[in-house]
Amino acid sequence: MKGIVLAGGRGSRLYPVTRGVSKHLLPVYDKPLIYHPISTLMLAGIRDMLIITTGEYLDAYKAVLGDGAQWGVAFQYAVQDEPRGLAEAFIIGEAFIGGGASALALGDNIFYGAGLTGQLQDAAALTTGACVFAHQVPDPHRFGIVELSPDGAPVSIEEKPAEPRSNQAITGLYFYDADVVEIAKAIAPSTRGEVEITCVNKVYLDRGDLSVTKLPRGTTWLDAGTFDSLLEASHFVQALEKRQGLKIACVEEIAWRKGFIDDGALEALARAYSNDYRTYLLALLDKSAQ
Ligand code: TTP
Repeated sequence: MKGIVLAGGRGSRLYPVTRGVSKHLLPVYDKPLIYHPISTLMLAGIRDMLIITTGEYLDAYKAVLGDGAQWGVAFQYAVQDEPRGLAEAFIIGEAFIGGGASALALGDNIFYGAGLTGQLQDAAALTTGACVFAHQVPDPHRFGIVELSPDGAPVSIEEKPAEPRSNQAITGLYFYDADVVEIAKAIAPSTRGEVEITCVNKVYLDRGDLSVTKLPRGTTWLDAGTFDSLLEASHFVQALEKRQGLKIACVEEIAWRKGFIDDGALEALARAYSNDYRTYLLALLDKSAQ
């Protein structure tokens, strides 16, 4: 399966901070925000990724991420100059997707929790239909909301409903079969001028081809699009990393644990650092040698 990280948008809720820097390059404690969606796709087992950014920041992303070979993955880049909607990712990414299944991760979404990797791998194994992830929220009128039957099957999907039928929000991580490109192309832009991902999900729902994985309460889902949520995400990552001595969204570690890179490559990545990453990554190798 191929993966797309959508890291365009205006980031206007973070103005003036994002007037000169892309939101997804801002730090979440000890790493750029975009490391999170990249890690999520890597944990799903996806190694071929398209990073979609605005033209303005393309070179900055290339400087931070390179071609991916250092982490045993492959990054390609594409530009979305105006935020014309999440589903436009599949139109921009058509050639990259190449007629197969694909996953979309929003650039500012963070997932963390026990058991998540297994759920991601299951989703990435799909060859027909679609799989989205839902998480309970206290303010459902702000999200795309899915109503589920008692046996967990999706019944309805509504974008930012005034009277929500459930408190299950659809998160920024979507897995689709090969049909998604044609489905996205057929969607007319909404009144806000965007090709809506909710419309894509409704097509799969109407076909009876949509599965919804409910993320358990032990899984944390954050989006880092506002001043408060960005700071909260930093505090969350800092607290867990300090408490557990384990890093969250450490791409080098994930690449090594997944077998995308070998011990020698991890050691070289570690030695290129002069800070805490060096100690952390070298300790992984010592432990693995025991
Ligand atoms: P949003 O947070 O809805 O939009 P934004 O990042 O432009 O921020 P703001 O509302 O503050 O102006 O987008 C969610 C994610 O999807 C975010 O990571 C940016 C990305 N995105 C795109 O890359 N292209 C798009 O067309 C849209 C709508 C979002």
